[in-house]
Amino acid sequence: MAACRFVEEYPLDNAGLLLIGSIGVGKTHLAVGIIKELVLGKGTGCLFYDYRELLKQIQNSYNDSVKATELDVLRPVFETEVLVLDELGAIKPTEWVWDTVSLILNTRYNDNRTTIITTNFPDEAGQDPYANPASEFGRAQRAVRRETLGDRIGDRMRSRLHEMCRTIKMEGDDFRQTIRSASFR
Ligand SMILES: Nc1ncnc2c1ncn2[C@@H]1O[C@H](COP(=O)(O)OP(=O)(O)OP(=O)(O)O)[C@@H](O)[C@H]1O
Ligand SMILES: [Mg+2]
Repeated sequence: MAACRFVEEYPLDNAGLLLIGSIGVGKTHLAVGIIKELVLGKGTGCLFYDYRELLKQIQNSYNDSVKATELDVLRPVFETEVLVLDELGAIKPTEWVWDTVSLILNTRYNDNRTTIITTNFPDEAGQDPYANPASEFGRAQRAVRRETLGDRIGDRMRSRLHEMCRTIKMEGDDFRQTIRSASFR
């Protein structure tokens, strides 16, 4: 329902969507459905990128033997009217990953463009950066605690996302395991 409403109201309301849910609930399916409808029904320019693939392409552009520059890869990501960024946070965070994600999200935010994001990570704050990771307690806490969106993209970016997007929590079974296998019976 939220996806249908989003398509109906676009571009009057151009806030994006943050689709959060466990594996196989249909986040990518919905995001693709939305942009298909926008492209075919409203002629909106849309671009779909898997987060890992996008970061890999940017990293590749630093390689001298590759012709594309970093800006060649990033320009369409900055400029497309609607961007789907699938599986946000799926790469182990490093300083470079955080800088790149913030560059992309901040640029789109400043230009008032719509971004649709999917993620498996729970929408919670990250680990306290001042907690001592070297202590036994800190290590034990980290080991039992499930990683959050804040851990993977940083709390500042998570806060920015909430400004850019309406959050939709998707709950349900893994479509790949339940519904598909049921149809084979
Ligand atoms: N409403 C739906 N109707 C029909 N098929 C669906 C629907 N939702 C999801 N599917 C199918 O279920 C499978 C899983 O969906 P999808 O890949 O969108 O899940 P996901 O939440 O993105 O999973 P992941 O967290 O692993 O990325 C896909 O094959 C998709 O086509
Ligand atoms: Mg997916």
